[in-house]
Amino acid sequence: MKLAVIGTGYVGLVTGACFAEMGNSVWCVDIDAEKIEGLKAGRLPIYEPGLDEIVERNAREGRLHFTTQLADAASACDLFFIAVGTPPQEDGSADLHHVLAVARQIGAVIERDAIVVDKSTVPVGTAELVKAEVEAALAARGKSLAVAVVSNPEFLKEGAAIEDFMRPDRIVVGTDDERARSVMAELYAPFNRSHQRVIYMGVRDAEMTKYAANAMLATKISFMNEIATLCEQYDVDVEKVRIGIGSDSRIGYHFIYPGAGYGGSCFPKDVKALVQMARRVGVEPLVLDAVEARNAAQKQTLLNKIVARFGESLAGRTFGVWGLAFKPGTDDMREAPSIPLITGLIERGACVKAYDPVAIANAQKVFPQDWQTEERLIFTTHQYGALEGADAMVLVTEWKPFRHPDFEAVKRLLKSPAVIFDGRNQYDPEALAREGIVYYGIGRRNRL
Ligand code: UGA
Repeated sequence: MKLAVIGTGYVGLVTGACFAEMGNSVWCVDIDAEKIEGLKAGRLPIYEPGLDEIVERNAREGRLHFTTQLADAASACDLFFIAVGTPPQEDGSADLHHVLAVARQIGAVIERDAIVVDKSTVPVGTAELVKAEVEAALAARGKSLAVAVVSNPEFLKEGAAIEDFMRPDRIVVGTDDERARSVMAELYAPFNRSHQRVIYMGVRDAEMTKYAANAMLATKISFMNEIATLCEQYDVDVEKVRIGIGSDSRIGYHFIYPGAGYGGSCFPKDVKALVQMARRVGVEPLVLDAVEARNAAQKQTLLNKIVARFGESLAGRTFGVWGLAFKPGTDDMREAPSIPLITGLIERGACVKAYDPVAIANAQKVFPQDWQTEERLIFTTHQYGALEGADAMVLVTEWKPFRHPDFEAVKRLLKSPAVIFDGRNQYDPEALAREGIVYYGIGRRNRL
């Protein structure tokens, strides 16, 4: 099939590359000329394991094209994926500006009937707005073509996006149009070989499904973080509780890991947008408000533990931070818990040495330049370099190389006594106690 994907950000690029990999001809369109030039030269704007290889192969074999001109793609395609950003506005609601602008551009260039697919995460009712925008742009050209709009939300995890796209748990296709449904069925047929993964529903049902899925996952995490906070006060190890409840198949082991709070571009944004959707129709989002409040508190938890041990003023102290990205497997710093932590440490007078396997370049842009030039914040090229002469090590992102570190080296490098704040409960408190390391986890017995 021939299709255009508009927006070559994270979602658009993965979507375009994976559809090309399945044999389709795909035009990836973006208004950012620099990005498109980079992609043509094989430079990817994001880090995602395996994506570079798929992009390179499909571009070389002529199935994947990059252009800034939607018109170039429009003459060949009758399927248009909208995969542009829906950033939060000041009140938290999703900004549809880009989505609707793309809808107008589609209406301005198509010459035959088209199917427009919303991949972007958009509030319930957006498909109708998109259809109206395309039709208005067509009418301005004196044309009337059949336009169907489909909601086909993505469920890609950063760091595992290719796998999630190629072997999805489910594919949600929301449409009220029979022809669109059969085109989508054909497009996704190669992904259904072992069993039927496509779930068909109405367009509004699909729009809500995306928000409900992310909000449910965020709720699980916030719930568990609240239980962890209780565990600390009641001398309970939350890791035992996690295993104890996860074994109930109705609860399951996924997404009940307590930690330093959820981050990334999706959970914080989508929970906020759903809160706004609720308020707009007069529903008080009691659960969602609590999910957000717990997450905001959780992002302070490591800092609070550090302050409880070392005091309000951290002047003269140095902290070695392991992990900056919001989760392992990505260089994405958006809403990362490392940001409020490092900011809090430096504002209290401390120096921070930080290491991350891939996110340092992005982290350098996030924190004020003067912190870096004054060496209050130093990014190291090696994980152990971050610990040299530090008062404590703080694990924020659970990258694999941090999971089984050389504790002898950790002890040698940190000031004595060696102290570890483990924001992801990666280490065994008893084993560390035997090593003579002072350990603070999240929701664990070794509390302050
Ligand atoms: C999330 C969803 O998992 C995807 O299904 C969805 O498509 C995507 O958002 C999106 O809307 O685009 P992602 O943001 O890449 O994907 O990251 P996750 O792996 O879900 O992790 C989110 C955050 O939750 C991370 O900060 C992670 O550390 C935290 N987390 C996750 C926990 O604190 N505890 C857990 O048990 C699991």
